[in-house]
Amino acid sequence: MFSNDLLKGKTVLITGGATGLGKSMALNFAALGARIAIVSRKRESLKAAVTELRNSGFEAEFETCDVRDPSQISSAVESLTGRLGKINVLVNNAAGNFISRTEDLSTKAFDAVTGIVLHGTVYFSLEMGKRWISSKSGGVILNIVTTYAWTGSGYVVPSAVSKAGVLALTRSLAVEWGKKGIRSVAIAPGMFPTKGAWERLVPVKSIEETLKDRNPLGRLGSHEELANLAAFLISDGASYINGEVVTIDGGEWLMGAGQFNALSAMPDEFWEMIRQGRGGK
Ligand code: HXC
Ligand code: NAP
Repeated sequence: MFSNDLLKGKTVLITGGATGLGKSMALNFAALGARIAIVSRKRESLKAAVTELRNSGFEAEFETCDVRDPSQISSAVESLTGRLGKINVLVNNAAGNFISRTEDLSTKAFDAVTGIVLHGTVYFSLEMGKRWISSKSGGVILNIVTTYAWTGSGYVVPSAVSKAGVLALTRSLAVEWGKKGIRSVAIAPGMFPTKGAWERLVPVKSIEETLKDRNPLGRLGSHEELANLAAFLISDGASYINGEVVTIDGGEWLMGAGQFNALSAMPDEFWEMIRQGRGGK
């Protein structure tokens, strides 16, 4: 889809880059010429992902880092910059989530998710933004949100509240930091199968079938589709896109929004009856 040097000369740091969509983005960005830095809590998965990247001939480094702790962020960025050179792009991808009735949540459970998704994204953006502003070098922040960042959603309230905040952060910093050469953009994915998301959000097969049924394209997203969109948004080809959130969900959220969309379930005979002017009889 792109020329092999689309991201040549760029160093991209991806939080949560050892698993799921973060890892797929890392592999895709590396294949397009980027140097890759990944951070998360689990050393084993980071080590395995970096080994896979290096075995494919790519330059990659990792640091363990809990994004809820600003001091761990500072030392991870310092160490990775020392090894890979200046970081040009930050992808705030790390997240925590699970389904629960809201009344069953403890305050600790709420904090566990908002700490990762909202605070972690803000802390990492602050760390990189301060560096980019003082060095006058500019940079790109790509935030991974969800479509319920603007609709809200029951049963994932800590995540919905946090993703809404991250979307507001994206649009706010686009204006405030745009003049300092920092672009802020976001992707709102629909449902993309990953171990982390499926274990916590799609624990039974019937939920997956429902998700497919309520999607206009009748399927889930592929990692390649998301990674290509991300590569475009962080590339210089998207240099005038700032403050935008791009939805990649096959039209799923719109399906739930239009009042008459449920008519998708009506058989051909129904539409024949309507066409013949018998709708009101
Ligand atoms: C209710 C839960 C819970 C659950 C944890 N808690 N899981 N409560 N239902 N399923 C509660 C615990 O009981 C505890 O509260 C508090 O949350 C903190 O739990 P810990 O296990 O100590 O938290 P921690 O080790 O910090 O782990 C964070 C986590 C975990 C979010 C809970 O799931 C995690 O590490 N997730 C990372 C990966 C992930 O979630 N990936 C999915 C992203 S998918 P008490 O009061 O009992 O001590 C995604 C998709 C979005 O974001 C959009 C889809 C469309
Ligand atoms: P995932 O594989 O579970 O990814 C989450 C990552 O975040 C893991 O690598 C995890 O690594 C890291 N992480 C969690 N807590 C962390 C912390 N405190 N500090 C540092 N890293 C932490 O799930 P995914 O499905 O790929 O999700 C990736 C992104 O896409 C998330 O932002 C998610 O909200 C978004 N998204 C996914 C879907 C979907 O359908 N999959 C839909 C919409 C949005 P460690 O455990 O090693 O820390």
